[in-house]
Amino acid sequence: MKTSEVLLNIRRSFKLTQEEMANKLMVTRQAVSRWENGDTVPSTDTLKIISMIFNVSINHLLGQYNNDICHYCGAPIDKIKSGVHSEIFKGEAMKNILVTGGAGFIGSNFIQYMLTSKIHNNIINLDALTYAGNLENLSTVKDSPKYTFVKGNICDGKLLDEIFTKYDIDIVVNFAAESHVDRSIIEPDIFVKSNVIGTHVLLEIAKKHWKKKPEDKYDREYKSGVKFIQISTDEVYGTLSYTGLFTEETPLAPNSPYSASKASADMFVRSYHETFGMPVNITRCSNNYGPYQFPEKLIPLMINNCINNKPLPVYGVGAQVRDWLYVEDHCTAIYAVMMNGISGEIYNIGGNNEMKNIDVVKFLISELGKTDNLIQYVKDRPGHDMRYAIDNNKITSELDWSPAYTFKQGMKKTIDWYLTNSEWMNRVITGEYEHYYSKMY
Ligand code: NAD
Ligand code: DAU
Repeated sequence: MKTSEVLLNIRRSFKLTQEEMANKLMVTRQAVSRWENGDTVPSTDTLKIISMIFNVSINHLLGQYNNDICHYCGAPIDKIKSGVHSEIFKGEAMKNILVTGGAGFIGSNFIQYMLTSKIHNNIINLDALTYAGNLENLSTVKDSPKYTFVKGNICDGKLLDEIFTKYDIDIVVNFAAESHVDRSIIEPDIFVKSNVIGTHVLLEIAKKHWKKKPEDKYDREYKSGVKFIQISTDEVYGTLSYTGLFTEETPLAPNSPYSASKASADMFVRSYHETFGMPVNITRCSNNYGPYQFPEKLIPLMINNCINNKPLPVYGVGAQVRDWLYVEDHCTAIYAVMMNGISGEIYNIGGNNEMKNIDVVKFLISELGKTDNLIQYVKDRPGHDMRYAIDNNKITSELDWSPAYTFKQGMKKTIDWYLTNSEWMNRVITGEYEHYYSKMY
């Protein structure tokens, strides 16, 4: 079938006007680097790009389709030009996204955000289901035809190879990591394995599948539309004193085994861009809070203890400062980077919301109707970073992102969520967590 016939097929099945067709063709011509003349048979790459731009399968393009419904979502063809499909007319194309660590706190929020508001994606969630991974976090989306769960470890190259082949992955969003500073002080090994080695294995498999000539070390050409997004942290910059902000140029100075492992992973991601030309972005976000956060972290731990009238363990005198961001705002920032981030760039993400730990704890006490008597000052965390604060100018000015929630709004949603999901909390705090808590405090 010739390119002209493929295009005629599209026009017929979508009932596009001449003007709409011309607009879509313009996008197609920009995306296809070597546009074949209408009388030649289109290459597989061209077909793939056309299929992404028009949001139809390659079979559909070749005329092997059901005339009445969209191949991907089952919507009737007459609805295709409006409603849920309207975004595609703004240029968003269907992608297969490998989300690693998607059963954890931020990953599960990200998957829900992607599947409910950004529909042109298939999500493959690879998670090892460590103590922090919980499939219950994804109960609202688990039956979506656009969602697939694979249990497994990012250190497992063979499994990753199979996933890339089977699902034709376009984008990796790497959340998978050991994420708790206090655990990294007790057991650093696992942080090196998951955060450093895991990221490296993931990069290697992505390179193998995405590079046009994987065996040629000088070749820097990649398949169209691929990208590796590393979800890093502001902790890689180390600590600030009372003034100043972390910018993307701040030298890395990680202080805990956790932040050292994240900084190492960032260096590998950077090197795959510099040496192999891999399209990558690194995001460095400040402290998140919101639904589904494991209660080893400050905010859910304090909410849970308040609810149960248990002591609130504040490290030192609670003078350390963190820059808090509601998790949904982190998700929208990652999406902005995914869509418009310039390859090779780092983006800091933060909400300009610095608070002392003790003030966060007192805020929670007051919102939950308790008293300061619950506060218990405990021995400080070794190597405790004093202050984190993000300069978010780059992402706000270059990618037009800004946080939607104030601290008060985000905290209201968070507290309400924990109050109405006490069963989630009860299930989470039994078993491994009970053991960790008694060892820790
Ligand atoms: P989390 O601990 O809640 O979740 C981590 C998830 O990764 C879990 O589902 C776990 O099962 C999975 N996982 C761990 N090791 C794995 C492995 N080897 N293979 C596959 N899956 C594995 O963490 P989170 O708070 O959601 O953080 C997610 C990412 O965001 C991390 O990379 C973290 O460094 C980064 N980050 C977190 C924050 C924050 O405030 N929580 C802020 C900035 C950046
Ligand atoms: O800045 C981003 C980072 O934020 C992420 O990369 C990490 O994955 C995430 O865990 C978080 O790290 P922190 O160490 O800042 O978060 P945590 O919730 O563990 O602690 C927040 C602050 O509260 C910190 O100064 C330590 C203090 N704290 C924490 C706990 C659990 C207490 O005072 N008491 C506690 O019981």
